[in-house]
Amino acid sequence: MQILKLTFFCLATVLVTFLFSCQPPEAPTDLTQAPLIPQPVSVEATGTSFELTDRTVVCVQEGLENVGQYLADKLAPATGFELAVKTVDKAPSKRYIYLSLSGDNAELSNEGYELAISKNGVNITANQPAGLFYAIQTVLQLLPASIESGEKQAGLWKLASGTIKDFPTYSFRGSMLDVSRHFFSVGDVKRYIDLMAAFKMNVFHLHLSDDQGWRIEIKKWPNLTTHGGSTEVGGGEGGFYTQEEYADIVKYAQDRFITIIPEIDMPGHTNAALASYPELNCDGKATELYTGTEVGFSSFCTSKEITYQFIDDVVSELAALTPGPYIHIGGDESHATKKEDYLPFVNRAKEIVESHGKIMIGWDETAQAEIGANNLVQLWNNADFAKEAVGKGAKLIMSPATKSYLDMQYDSTSRIGLHWAAYIEVDTGYIWDPATLFPGIEKENIIGIEAPLWSETVTNMDDIEYLVFPRLLGYAEIGWSPATVRDWETYKIRLGQFAERMDAMEIGFYRSKSVPWAE
Ligand code: ACM
Repeated sequence: MQILKLTFFCLATVLVTFLFSCQPPEAPTDLTQAPLIPQPVSVEATGTSFELTDRTVVCVQEGLENVGQYLADKLAPATGFELAVKTVDKAPSKRYIYLSLSGDNAELSNEGYELAISKNGVNITANQPAGLFYAIQTVLQLLPASIESGEKQAGLWKLASGTIKDFPTYSFRGSMLDVSRHFFSVGDVKRYIDLMAAFKMNVFHLHLSDDQGWRIEIKKWPNLTTHGGSTEVGGGEGGFYTQEEYADIVKYAQDRFITIIPEIDMPGHTNAALASYPELNCDGKATELYTGTEVGFSSFCTSKEITYQFIDDVVSELAALTPGPYIHIGGDESHATKKEDYLPFVNRAKEIVESHGKIMIGWDETAQAEIGANNLVQLWNNADFAKEAVGKGAKLIMSPATKSYLDMQYDSTSRIGLHWAAYIEVDTGYIWDPATLFPGIEKENIIGIEAPLWSETVTNMDDIEYLVFPRLLGYAEIGWSPATVRDWETYKIRLGQFAERMDAMEIGFYRSKSVPWAE
């Protein structure tokens, strides 16, 4: 009898296991439960779902074909669907995703969107194409993580129904890549841009020159790249972007609604230029190329007119290649420049940038110069300088090293990274608010947030991904989501549910113990 019972129990267990394992994956129906990063402003659920099939049509208003095609292209690899993109006047009655501009919803501003999902279709409206692009990122996150796979997956491609209304808190949501300490290929840079775009970031700051390497071709000063670009930290071969390659990066970013900010750091952090042209040195002698990691030892000769001619040539070529409004002139850690020389230097650099129709950005030290209300100052180290900038009416980019530097180690066991500012675990990187971090710096003084990745210890894409992910998702959320919806306890659960998605995106992210990663 005992044996019979046991056998029956075993059979029942096998049957139940079999039945459950043969169930189709459950369709999501509660939109409010969808893990999204950044968290939208508002989400309302209606309890059903929309299924994407090979018969779904991507419909667009005239002029929005590119955004529609971007969506169809993103969906194609994992679903295997080659969805048609149709230009229409109004949405069909079913089986559609419809992208249109309404242009009259002030609350959504330039980057917001409204996403309405019903059984029959998906309606996406925005004031500007950027908003549609961000809505597409949300749609992708509402689909199973395997949508990010590069190969066809057996998926049930359903989205829970309801309405999402969403717009960013800050108009500037950026990250920086230092391509000077170590050089990264155009392919790596494009991947970085794609990964930023997936989380609605819109500014990519390229740190193009430093002591260890000059990375952008300047036709009038060719030795900058042939000599100054020929090495990197540790003595590797370095590299540089031709102007055509830079223009290609700019276009790639533009197609993803990302503005490129090029930085030529000066008057310090200039050894690569000083090694390439003897006339830029006060003693007229070229320096040696440098492959170490010290800072603060180099300076342009601020008393020589050729220095300003040089800057004018560089900014002129760079401005012509850069459609965005900004040129970043660095200005940090100019310890080898006398203060009485530093301030007039920054003033002249600002005039040069403006003479080429661009707005100057500088690191926080530049706040001491004669900056104006249209300049941006990037807070990295000194809140007093930042407050000085605020006093002059300038807006701040918030990049406090202790909170937002992506090159800081997570903890003392991190395989790469530095810790001169702090160890920045995933929670530390998330739990701060740009508008309350420093007394005297308010939300209205801040244009946004940027997370910089300095590359002294970063040599390849695996290294980049290890330091940048998952922290970048937190910075994306700080930049986009209202402070009122941000909370570590709920964020860490959402982030944990992104493990599968980041795996599908082939991101080699750091599996922090502070996050409950979903299997
Ligand atoms: C900086 O980290 N020197 C801006």
